[in-house]
Amino acid sequence: MSQLKNDLLLKALKGEAVPRPPVWMMRQAGRYLPDYQKLKARYSFFERCRTPELATEITLQPIDQVGVDAAIIFSDILVVPQAMGMEVQMVEGKGPLLPEPIKNIHDVDRLISPDVNESLGYVFDALRLTKRELNGRVPLIGFAGAPWTLLCYMVQGKGSKTFDEAKAFCYQQPEAAHQLLQSITDTTIRYLSGQAEAGADVVQIFDSWGGLLSPEDFETFSLPYIAQIVNAVREKCLTIVFAKGAWHSLEAMAATGTNGLGIDWCIRPELARQMAGRNVTLQGNFDPAKLLSPIPEIQKSVRTMLKQFGMQRYIANLGHGILPNVPVDHARAFVDAVKESEAVSI
Ligand code: CP3
Repeated sequence: MSQLKNDLLLKALKGEAVPRPPVWMMRQAGRYLPDYQKLKARYSFFERCRTPELATEITLQPIDQVGVDAAIIFSDILVVPQAMGMEVQMVEGKGPLLPEPIKNIHDVDRLISPDVNESLGYVFDALRLTKRELNGRVPLIGFAGAPWTLLCYMVQGKGSKTFDEAKAFCYQQPEAAHQLLQSITDTTIRYLSGQAEAGADVVQIFDSWGGLLSPEDFETFSLPYIAQIVNAVREKCLTIVFAKGAWHSLEAMAATGTNGLGIDWCIRPELARQMAGRNVTLQGNFDPAKLLSPIPEIQKSVRTMLKQFGMQRYIANLGHGILPNVPVDHARAFVDAVKESEAVSI
């Protein structure tokens, strides 16, 4: 395996000194890049996920075109419910659709506990191929959805602003909910361990809907499962936990032993640091919509963000995924502004 030429991300996550923070963008693979749109016109979403050559090509696009310090494998969090036996469709213009959502304990009992090498081996193949093609340029990030966020889709059956049906399931059938969360957790541990073995240097757990829960419910239905996953994979690779909107539990999330914590733009960096403590690396938290500002404004806001977080134990990133309508030169301006901090020493 070739030596990493740029290991800023790994150093920042381990708490080692860096000349500047590493920078990458959530959802950087796909969405806003014109070359991705070309592939999108030719292949269906899951064809792109399931064909290692395509997944690798899409994963490498932002490395070559925007200059980020890490690659994140092109895939989706919903490949796990698929592997557990659920049908998942990606409907153009609408998002995910699971036509037979989970309603009760019998549906939970019917789920498969998959052999991940068999049903998700294509993700491992894509990681291995990407690792080879990267040739040590930057580290490779794997990922999975947090059990709570996957439950949201598996029960609601589609995207939602409130995920009220998923919540009702937890409140009305807590035993079934916990059984479901545990079986997602067990599969995810095997899945992320496989990703680490296939070459992922870091794995990120996306709890995109963690912030829909009250602090107490987050600590009941989400955090214990995230903690199990971190605990099981931290010997194999570095970990980042991103629970959007769940800033109230930063201290508890740091206590899972994760190397990194993602935060969104609704919390001040100083407060996030105070809550998370000094033994964890913070990642974030630029408002993705702010990439639609004029470039000089982006540069100014990035400098402010870096000043607030400081240069160490920090990964520059957005506070959620990049939006599909962001011009590529604005994404590049964001990345370049972070890279320039090395010369200016803030
Ligand atoms: O950095 C990357 O983009 C890597 C690939 C990646 C995708 N999905 C590809 C994708 C990652 C990391 C994800 C994670 C994901 N998927 C999350 C968690 C992160 C977040 O943004 O909150 C969630 C909630 C999903 C579920 C999902 N997949 C939704 C809601 C949608 C539709 C709307 C959209 O664009 O986000 C998808 C489809 C999807 N996954 C697309 C891409 C590039 C867009 C569809 C397409 O290009 O055909």
